[in-house]
Amino acid sequence: MEDCTGYSLLRNPRLNKGTAFTHEEREKFGLLGMLPEAVETIETQTIRIHEQLDNFEKPINQYIYLMQLLENNETLFFKTICSDPAKYLPLVYTPTVGEACQKFGQVSRRPRGLYLSIKQKDNLKEILRNWPEKDVRFTVVTDGGRILGLGDLGIFGLGIPIGKLVLYTSCGGVPPEYTLPIVLDVGTNNEEFLNDPLYPGLKCKRIRGKEFDDFVAAFVEAMNEVFPKICIQWEDFPGVDAIKILNTYKEKVCTFNDDIQGTAAVATAGFISISRLMKKRFIDQHFLFLGAGAAAFGIADMLVKKFERDGLTREEALKQIWMFDINGLLIKSRTDLAEHQLQFAHDSDSCTDFAEAVLKIKPTAIVGVSTVGGAFNQQVIENMSAVNERPIIFPYSNPTSHSECTAEQAYNWSKGKAIFASGSPFAPVEYQGKIFTPGQGNNVFIFPALGLAIFATEATRVTDDILLTAAEAVAEQVSFSDFEKGLIYPSVADILKVSVNVAIKIAEDIFNSGLAGVKRPESISDFIRSKMYIPEYK
Ligand code: NAI
Repeated sequence: MEDCTGYSLLRNPRLNKGTAFTHEEREKFGLLGMLPEAVETIETQTIRIHEQLDNFEKPINQYIYLMQLLENNETLFFKTICSDPAKYLPLVYTPTVGEACQKFGQVSRRPRGLYLSIKQKDNLKEILRNWPEKDVRFTVVTDGGRILGLGDLGIFGLGIPIGKLVLYTSCGGVPPEYTLPIVLDVGTNNEEFLNDPLYPGLKCKRIRGKEFDDFVAAFVEAMNEVFPKICIQWEDFPGVDAIKILNTYKEKVCTFNDDIQGTAAVATAGFISISRLMKKRFIDQHFLFLGAGAAAFGIADMLVKKFERDGLTREEALKQIWMFDINGLLIKSRTDLAEHQLQFAHDSDSCTDFAEAVLKIKPTAIVGVSTVGGAFNQQVIENMSAVNERPIIFPYSNPTSHSECTAEQAYNWSKGKAIFASGSPFAPVEYQGKIFTPGQGNNVFIFPALGLAIFATEATRVTDDILLTAAEAVAEQVSFSDFEKGLIYPSVADILKVSVNVAIKIAEDIFNSGLAGVKRPESISDFIRSKMYIPEYK
């Protein structure tokens, strides 16, 4: 702080304490007269922020206010978010961040993060060295190609990495100075942006193919050279690119894709937690997917891993997972299946009615990843209830309008028997005098904890096994009393506590598998806690 004084100190978000500077500090750092007389604690400052936020009616205005706070006083910003995560996470991340990205151009702010244009492919190392922090450990990077359910938002997609990294810090304790939001600018197919003189990104259609692949390769190389301990998290890339990038780099560098692996881990956590709370073995679960696309494969792959970890062979595991797509049940005799779909195709008669498939296969759980809103109709839920005492119903398609059924439908049609979790949020439902709280498979239970463990251990890779360990650890955090209310995931209000416990388990796994970049400490729990960022003034 000695080098930064007076007005500059108040303008430095990392060092600024505002009215919490003591009289001695005000004198020492040339702040006298720049602050009102009272010296306040961070708790008092937080109360003021809460009050000011409550004066805004629209979430987008609360978002803008919070982002200004982040640019003004980082410690107070994180203190505020951590004080009530259930209230503030929807403001700094989904759903509000979606609108914020759409309006990114109009929301004037100081730059936070890096814009890397494909035109700069050969200068990436130099550009990365412009970033003021020299030891960056975590980057969330997008190309803005498929932002939430909003489509191509070009460089305005940067709002997503910014928001996500805020969650790494507030929900996982990753120190903010080690994080770096990045958008790769490869053009946009958003016609509105292309015709808008105020759109500040590259004004051309998305550059694809080899040129795109070479740019991504240059980016990965530059990041690893300039920041040797970096973990790259890919975010909101269009599906095909996302899978290709992940497969190209996951064995070579420390990287993961939250849309694919984080979602798979959180869905798997739900099934593990249900098995545990119902006192059933996970290996007794049978799954039927509606939809056999990218999301289905991400989740099914992790379920296979879990079956294998619990003692089944791969062949046995595959027998317990069925899929049903737009052309019906995936069976061996079908000629329209892609290579990766064949492993989930079984010897069976054809079936093109999903409700009938439920009676035929008798799954304990159905997973909706079809994008078809309403596809889990009354007949489907009733058939699930006929073959299960407690049918597990997971409509995972986003956004809400694409959800295969609503929470209310699942509880009503199953006569209160369903165990329900969805991709999109649903409000609690009352059925025959009892309140059911639907679960939401929110990746926030996975990635901040993963981030903290990777940061602390300086992990060199993120393997599927590590993600499965994260899923198991999340499942352990749910209590029987939560389950009684219908919950199968921990409460977001407890997110920091949950993340620490999950991070400890992940870190153990990282050390056990020889993927840590630091020496194994005596107590992993103390070690993890010692690495965490705590939003208090120093
Ligand atoms: P996708 O387009 O790769 O797959 C969709 C699948 O649904 C295809 O197999 C298709 O044949 C099937 N389908 C379409 N209409 C159908 C119908 N009427 N009956 C039966 N099957 C039908 O899409 P993707 O990426 O797998 O996403 C699916 C949904 O899952 C989306 O709503 C997405 O929001 C959600 N989701 C996606 C994740 C991901 O990692 N891509 C993660 C979590 C959720």
